[in-house]
Amino acid sequence: MREYTPETITDAVIEQMATTPDPRMKEIMNAAVRHMHAFARETNLTPGEWIKGIEFMTKVGQMCSPARQEFILLSDTMGLSALVNIMHDKTKMEEATGASLLGPFFRENTPKFESGAQIAKKTDGAEVVLYGRVTNVQGAPLANSQVTVWQTAADGRYDIQNGIEEIDCRGIFRTDDKGNYLVRTVRPLGYFIPLDGPVGQMVMTQKRHGMRPAHIHFSLFGRAFAQRLVTQMYFPDDPLFEFDPIFQSVRDPRDRERLISRFDLDATTPEWALGFRFDIVLRGREQTPFEETN
Ligand code: BEZ
Ligand code: FE
Repeated sequence: MREYTPETITDAVIEQMATTPDPRMKEIMNAAVRHMHAFARETNLTPGEWIKGIEFMTKVGQMCSPARQEFILLSDTMGLSALVNIMHDKTKMEEATGASLLGPFFRENTPKFESGAQIAKKTDGAEVVLYGRVTNVQGAPLANSQVTVWQTAADGRYDIQNGIEEIDCRGIFRTDDKGNYLVRTVRPLGYFIPLDGPVGQMVMTQKRHGMRPAHIHFSLFGRAFAQRLVTQMYFPDDPLFEFDPIFQSVRDPRDRERLISRFDLDATTPEWALGFRFDIVLRGREQTPFEETN
């Protein structure tokens, strides 16, 4: 009978898993075991601390429901979702708009609007005009692209947080023949990520504030492009950029350039609306137009 020591147990586990048929699964599981064991050795993890970790993960699982994914929130607040996105966002190498997390507040049930329509039911004096041009990396306009936006209302809450029936501050638009879109909306507020579960408890225990910079989510599904771009638009000079609890915002100078909208005096009507411009560049090869389901 072999005796296991902190130094030999890792290889013993990897040896036993060597029969895993799928090579990629085997690679991932081997690395997971090596890194978990290294973590326990580095921190000299005690049995009491280990059980606390298990209890925490149990609470994360219990918080999950069809309307709430606490494991994704855990991954987001530990920077893992951002890391995976950064590693695989091929737009980083190109002059295209970068991808961002979809987040928990997207919903399929989104109304279609004519260009220039107001998507907020209550404007509360916070009206903004948001417009821009959708192009490919060569700068050619992408006409008839589907531009879906969703955001908080002027009170900093998403419609879905007030109940599943409420639909507000989200809409589907189309670009015109010059690739332009135009949305009337309200200026969203920065908001706290969901703090009422175990991940929120973790964030608060770490004395992090948990507040995201104000943003508008965009999903683009060009008629001419097979690939969907999910991204987020920010407002200039937000002091929360550096502290985003899910590490989405704009430290990288290229992201800063592309994801922060520009205040636009020409589109601003001082008495009632501020204007912001957000141009979007889609990467990828143009496809034969396809029929959309939405
Ligand atoms: C958001 O962008 O809306 C979001 C993403 C992940 C966690 C919480 C909020
Ligand atoms: Fe959001």
